[in-house]
Amino acid sequence: MPVLTNIRQLLTCRAEGGQEALHPIERAALVWEGDTIRWVGPEAELPARFREMPRLDAGGCLVAPGLVDCHTHLAFGGWRADEFRLRCRGVSYLEIARQGGGIRRTVAQTRAASEDALYHRCLGFLREMARLGITTVETKSGYGLSFEEELKLLRVYRRLQATQPVRLIPTLLAAHIVPPEYADRREAYLQLITDELIPHVARERLAECCDVFVEETAFTVEEARRILERGKAFGLRPKLHADQLHDGGGARLAAEVGAVSADHLEYASDEGIQAMARAGVVAVALPIATLYLRQRPMDARRFVEAGVPVAVATDFNPGSAPSYHLPLAMTLACVLCGLTPAEALKGATCYAARAIGRDRELGSLEPGKKADFILIDAEDVDHWLYHFRPNAVQATFIGGKRLED
Ligand code: NIG
Ligand code: FE
Repeated sequence: MPVLTNIRQLLTCRAEGGQEALHPIERAALVWEGDTIRWVGPEAELPARFREMPRLDAGGCLVAPGLVDCHTHLAFGGWRADEFRLRCRGVSYLEIARQGGGIRRTVAQTRAASEDALYHRCLGFLREMARLGITTVETKSGYGLSFEEELKLLRVYRRLQATQPVRLIPTLLAAHIVPPEYADRREAYLQLITDELIPHVARERLAECCDVFVEETAFTVEEARRILERGKAFGLRPKLHADQLHDGGGARLAAEVGAVSADHLEYASDEGIQAMARAGVVAVALPIATLYLRQRPMDARRFVEAGVPVAVATDFNPGSAPSYHLPLAMTLACVLCGLTPAEALKGATCYAARAIGRDRELGSLEPGKKADFILIDAEDVDHWLYHFRPNAVQATFIGGKRLED
């Protein structure tokens, strides 16, 4: 049973108390057994039974729960740097999509990539994410868009779950766009998702959540409702890409289907936000996408004030958010969306775990939870997110084990 001592401040990030409450403990100690936390408190109060246990010195670092990236599109082929150049010159994301670029191009490149090549690429991404303090990653399919190709992506995630330490929460996002070969057979694609993919994926336990991109160029509210209800019937937790480019009623739909989260929400209506508050849906801010699309940011204060928990994630994908740097997303959630650093940290730990339905075991440092934690070289959370650096994380522990560089 190891004991971590010499912690300047431990940010427990327990759920109670709302967005800004991190429940810090000064000069703390942390005890775990196997992969589970046993005790957290002031070092001076360490119970006698733990005093003889092997000690690890935190070197006066700040300690926080391992970060949870609750929205990524991790497995994809190719990149789209040329579209980035066009957007820098003012061409819009939707315009690029209409011209055949965007998600469609990544679908073609992903289909051309082998399962093995995608696996090795994701392995590299995850290794770097772990160094940045990320211990859990939600991973969406959505660049396959056929029965076999969607399964290929979910199998990549399954293999990664078995071979590397970062925890993965796979999500079926077959409803990302209607693939080109179904352009004139929309209903047939919807049926492929509801009658074939969802039952198969649920039976094989290849995904825990089901997501839909609700947008003009993607799926309508009613199509999304149908897919998410079907997913729910098979035990897949609903999630949504909602109200990213205009108010399309996504926030309200998230409340109506009892989604664990609604993500993006730059254009969510007041009425949608109120409905999310009543239904307990987490709002996920994705400020890296906002930044890259040169878009109006999500106003996180509106959500916090309405009583909606706000999570922060990267949206890592080759189009709108080509970075998996979650601490950068947290700093941007402060600068662009109006969260305080403490609120952003709660959003990348406790509420991010809630946004994937895993807050019983992840997202905070309390007895009984997984021993996923990070050592940060900063004097407090304000300073950590204010002084942006490539990496302030000194060490990452997952399930009580320290990851080697
Ligand atoms: O979350 N919104 C849809 N999906 C991604 C973008 C994917 C892409 O451009 O390849 C997003 O922003
Ligand atoms: Fe996304």
